[in-house]
Amino acid sequence: MALLEVQDLVTEFPTRAGVVRAVNGVTFSVDEGEILAVVGESGSGKSVTALSIMGLLQDPGHIAHGSITFDGRELSALSDREMEEVRGNQIGMIFQEPMTSLNPVYRVGDQIVEAILTHEKIGKKEAWERAVEMLRVVGIPSPEERAHDFPHQMSGGMRQRVMIAMALVCRPKLLIADEPTTALDVTIQAQILDLIYRLRDAYHMAVLLITHDLGVVSEVADRAVVMYCGRTVEEAPVAELFMHPHHPYTTGLLQSIPRLEDDSSERLYAIEGTVPDPLEVGEGCPFANRCAYAADRCRSELPALSPVPGEGHRSIRCFYPLEVH
Ligand SMILES: Nc1ncnc2c1ncn2[C@@H]1O[C@H](COP(=O)(O)OP(=O)(O)O)[C@@H](O)[C@H]1O
Ligand SMILES: [Mg+2]
Repeated sequence: MALLEVQDLVTEFPTRAGVVRAVNGVTFSVDEGEILAVVGESGSGKSVTALSIMGLLQDPGHIAHGSITFDGRELSALSDREMEEVRGNQIGMIFQEPMTSLNPVYRVGDQIVEAILTHEKIGKKEAWERAVEMLRVVGIPSPEERAHDFPHQMSGGMRQRVMIAMALVCRPKLLIADEPTTALDVTIQAQILDLIYRLRDAYHMAVLLITHDLGVVSEVADRAVVMYCGRTVEEAPVAELFMHPHHPYTTGLLQSIPRLEDDSSERLYAIEGTVPDPLEVGEGCPFANRCAYAADRCRSELPALSPVPGEGHRSIRCFYPLEVH
């Protein structure tokens, strides 16, 4: 059994304009110790998927259908108190902008201590020592001193390291990282990804890595789920996804990754059009209006997410997959 199983998840936001199905039938699983990337353009439903898993949807957002099991327990059936226990203790999380999750008026060491004491009955001094040790583990130099810093005294990269320290201090089995490097410059981005990769090995923890950037996926992930307009459209081991993408949307994403050898005078390829508004998707494949291969059937009928013939470990939601023999 996988550590996390998300099955046919539907998450809705009732709005004045109608019910927004931000997530519309997402299925994937994460194994123990695995790094699974969830990738897709902005507006695909990645963050709402993460918030649904963590029980952090803001009213009136709610899970309308589907199941989320973690370590054999159905998360959507847990009470708020039980869910609070799961968060932080068993599932750690980090976000794009650490400044919004760190409290500006408390020293970073105290914030990590607070995270420890929420879940464990240990002394303040012991908790402080553990906080400092964790800051060392995530690569903060002179952690004894930096633990006394306020968040604004640190760089963006250092703050993200603090967030990681805080997320991991209770040794969760799963880390959910929503665009953890998007706000950082490229060099720091690579360092943070490398850190996540090393911590996965050190703690044998699973990581759900959410990103709009397939370049990030190729660096660290074992497997990837490609999301489009609230749905899973392709799932595959990363190496295979890069070598032989089957969904036309995945191909488009791959072509949009900047490459070093690119002539800078050439404009970067981008898939034409944008992710449709969830209120405006029709009955067919949501990618049909941007797809070069779309046929009539694609506009009227939604393909099911199915195993790729001859490649049972991969799945795809497309009537006319590429490079499938
Ligand atoms: N609170 C909300 N109310 C209404 N619609 C929302 C809300 N949050 C997200 N959405 C919609 O859900 C869709 C998916 O959003 P999101 O999960 O944030 O995308 P991503 O993280 O992939 O960029 C978007 O169309 C967004 O507008
Ligand atoms: Mg997001």
